[in-house]
Amino acid sequence: MNYPSRVKLVDVGPRDGLQNEKSPVPAAVKIKLVQLLQQAGLKEIEVTSFVSPKWVPQMADALDVMAGIERQPDVRYSVLTPNIKGFEAALASKPDEIVVFAAASEAFSQRNINCSIAESIERFAPVVAAAKAAGIYTRGAISCAVGCPYEGDVAPEQVELVARLMKSIGVQHMGVADTIGVGTPLKVQRAIEAALKHYAIGDVSGHFHDTYGQALGNTLASLQMGVWQFDTSIAGLGGCPYAKGATGNVATEDVVYLLHGMGIDTGIELDKLVDAGQYISDFLGRKPNSRAATALLNKRLN
Ligand code: HMG
Ligand code: MG
Repeated sequence: MNYPSRVKLVDVGPRDGLQNEKSPVPAAVKIKLVQLLQQAGLKEIEVTSFVSPKWVPQMADALDVMAGIERQPDVRYSVLTPNIKGFEAALASKPDEIVVFAAASEAFSQRNINCSIAESIERFAPVVAAAKAAGIYTRGAISCAVGCPYEGDVAPEQVELVARLMKSIGVQHMGVADTIGVGTPLKVQRAIEAALKHYAIGDVSGHFHDTYGQALGNTLASLQMGVWQFDTSIAGLGGCPYAKGATGNVATEDVVYLLHGMGIDTGIELDKLVDAGQYISDFLGRKPNSRAATALLNKRLN
């Protein structure tokens, strides 16, 4: 089996991880988390979302967070922009990358962004064009790529359709997202194969929530296909407010442990990553949702 020698991880903890927290997390805490992530060696951080504060109150401080982070020249900072209003608000904060997010199921598209799949593509087209004009890279995400909380199983053909539509409007990268963490390796491989009909292997990433404990298996299955980019979340934080019961993304600490154990380079220092996870977990008053972090923290006590 040929595995990639290097993997790029995007820590989505400050965004996907915190968007679902019920109690407000101050901008200063988010800023410090970004700082700790970059100190651990993360080169890609999904910082926040420029979405409606009525829909996702936790992300209402997007501008403050973007203004407060101490940007490093070799780190790329991405933000979610669901429409032109969000993009225009984001522009002032100079993101390196924006994310437009569609769904492979109609029901989830309606619940998450209040429009059909076709309407979402129409909304994204001017966003992608404006990003291109501003020299900002555009990543796309396809939610519910294997399963939907409202419609159940999602066929790979749906992923193929959304990937084709995203490609047609100029989206440069495609993230295949198992929003509710129901995927298992072969289903995830089929969803990725569908995205690969329109995107090169270097332009596809995996975004796996870990609700059923399958995310590491799904990561391995994707690596076996040659995928070398993944979204992960510090301390396994997160969930989508419009996907009830879905838990966080696979923990960055667990994926780093897996990859380093396989001799795959990430550029990340696991010990410092554990510190970042402990910082945010302490703030939230809970333990990191990561087996690797738990094991390493226990080891520190001995
Ligand atoms: P809408 O209500 O259909 O939008 O929401 P609208 O255009 O009709 O506007 C209604 C109001 O929202 C107006 O304000 C707009 O100004 C305002 P009012 O006049 O009533 O005071 N508005 C905005 N405000 C701030 N920023 C904006 C914005 N747009 C409109 N960008 C919208 C449509 C998409 C905005 C809404 O549905 C929304 O914000 N949804 C957010 C959904 C979300 O953030 N979900 C979580 C992130 S996605 C995710 O987690 C999945 C992912 O991780 C991959 C995976 O795991 O699947 C990426
Ligand atoms: Mg997600």
